[in-house]
Amino acid sequence: MTKVLFVCLGNICRSPTADGVFRHMLIEQGLTEKIEVDSCGTAGWHIGKAPDQRSQASARRRGYDLSCLRARQVNLKDFETFDYILAMDESNRQDLLAMSPNRYHEKIRLFLDYAQSTDLRAVPDPYYDGEAGFEQVLDLVEEACHGLINQLRSSL
Ligand code: 4NP
Repeated sequence: MTKVLFVCLGNICRSPTADGVFRHMLIEQGLTEKIEVDSCGTAGWHIGKAPDQRSQASARRRGYDLSCLRARQVNLKDFETFDYILAMDESNRQDLLAMSPNRYHEKIRLFLDYAQSTDLRAVPDPYYDGEAGFEQVLDLVEEACHGLINQLRSSL
């Protein structure tokens, strides 16, 4: 089993969107027995909450259901459990590096490393933005999820 963890700050906008989109692709491509997915936040402010209504609405319009997801905070066991720990921005990545032992640092990467048609390195935080920010999150997430799944498929 290959295990993928998406990480943002609050785990209510960007990483649950990635979680829901990637989960959808795994089901569509018959990969749920081979690849597992989860998401979490570096901060604990929103623990137990469902994804932001704006993220849920944008995702629903494209056919993804985020309603079952609940926010949680990253913990030390995650660094052992997951094979790919993918940060939404550089600040998330730095936080993950600072809280984990060196032997796990190779697992920690920027999610957009898997997005081929953009020069952006970070999924911009949409929390204080309008609707366009949430649509951009979905565009970037779909793009990077495609790149990630193709890479994982080739190494299964
Ligand atoms: P996320 O967005 O990291 O994509 O879940 C945020 C959600 C909440 C806050 C910041 C970012 N907040 O400050 O509460």
